[in-house]
Amino acid sequence: MIWTLKKRLYRTQQRVMKVASMVLPFPVPVLLTGPGSVRKLAENIKVRGLKNVLVVTDKVLMDLKLPEGLFDSLEENGVKYSVYDDVEPNPTIESVENGKKVYQKNKCDGIIGFGGGSAIDCAKIIGARLSNPFISVKRMKGLFRVILPIPPFFCVPTTAGTGSETTVAAVITDAATHEKFAINDLKLIPKIAVLDPELMVGLPPHITSTTGMDALTHAVEAYIGLNGSKFTDENAENATKLIFENLEEAYQNGDNLEARNNMALASFYAGAAFTRAYVGYVHAIAHNMGGLYGVPHGLANAIILPYVLEFCREEAEKKLAGLAIAGGIGTKGESEEELSHQFIEKVKTMNINMAIPTFIKELREEDIPLIAKRALDEAHPDYPVPRIMTLAECEELVGELMQ
Ligand SMILES: NC(=O)c1ccc[n+]([C@@H]2O[C@H](COP(=O)([O-])OP(=O)(O)OC[C@H]3O[C@@H](n4cnc5c(N)ncnc54)[C@H](O)[C@@H]3O)[C@@H](O)[C@H]2O)c1
Ligand SMILES: [Fe+2]
Repeated sequence: MIWTLKKRLYRTQQRVMKVASMVLPFPVPVLLTGPGSVRKLAENIKVRGLKNVLVVTDKVLMDLKLPEGLFDSLEENGVKYSVYDDVEPNPTIESVENGKKVYQKNKCDGIIGFGGGSAIDCAKIIGARLSNPFISVKRMKGLFRVILPIPPFFCVPTTAGTGSETTVAAVITDAATHEKFAINDLKLIPKIAVLDPELMVGLPPHITSTTGMDALTHAVEAYIGLNGSKFTDENAENATKLIFENLEEAYQNGDNLEARNNMALASFYAGAAFTRAYVGYVHAIAHNMGGLYGVPHGLANAIILPYVLEFCREEAEKKLAGLAIAGGIGTKGESEEELSHQFIEKVKTMNINMAIPTFIKELREEDIPLIAKRALDEAHPDYPVPRIMTLAECEELVGELMQ
């Protein structure tokens, strides 16, 4: 009885969120696209009157000299820059606070997030803390807790997965509790996003595959959830088609610029879909694998996605069938039931083809209750999932992820 009431309450709250996301003025970043487009960012920053930007990135990318083109063009345009490169995968509150100090010390006036979702999210939250020093990172958790606008913010993704370049989200870990959580606010959407496939050609195959599966998870969770709209459905369909057609190619032939370009677009489209229609249990569980064990976000999603799809296949049958058709697998003559199974099989096959395992090797049995509780705390009531999970069902599903 109480559970039935709870579920009704979740659904009511989700309907309110759906209306809100349809009327909220989501800013859309200006896009600079195509090979070499990163060099165009500096002139766009200069015309905005900025004099000294903070580039937030990580040491791997610095060692690879990936930001060199950006640095050169900033210099050519007379824009000074400072670098904060201490961002680690699954970035922590500490990285944010340290980055904030670098910005203040160098009297910067804008921020560029350059890297994967970790660098971009860290950059977003550095911006949020700079403008809102009275709100701690922990208190920004959830929806619309960033009160004042962040400094001018631009981003250059070097992975094709998170969609952070167009989302309201920034994901951060509290190193003390190993809790990973999202901060969601319209003010975190960048002014300009650069989708330059040349920056992605050196992305190692295992990061290409897992970040690409993150983008697929965004598209799928946005599409099968109950808060989709025509806009989010179209973006999720476009993303799925591009991912089915290009991800394995990008994984096998990293220097295929066309496949890289299509994956960058897919990540952006999937981001545009999920930032308005939300994600689901795959993300809620995956965030815990990142927070507790440091499992890379895309890898966790790729592994968990087929399990969650099996769990809600019946409720999501029609939508999964639609996504199968949009993705170019199956034919219209087949039943929705057949198509939904084919969709799940396709995800499993892609994982196999890209050497993604079917289990989380770090997962410990004694952590299952905590993971399930935290995952449901994250998902309920906000995520408009097609089938609501009980704690026991969540524990069972997480248990299936053990080796
Ligand atoms: N804000 C959002 O909307 C959103 C959405 C999904 C995920 N996330 C978050 O984003 C983070 C994951 O981001 P990610 O999957 O992009 O990975 P990442 O940023 O953690 O990068 C993974 C690794 O790849 C390296 N790398 C990145 N680009 C490279 C390149 N071009 N060549 C070689 N190496 C490269 C990085 O240095 C890093 O070591 C997680 O914290 C996740 O929770 C955010
Ligand atoms: Fe994600």
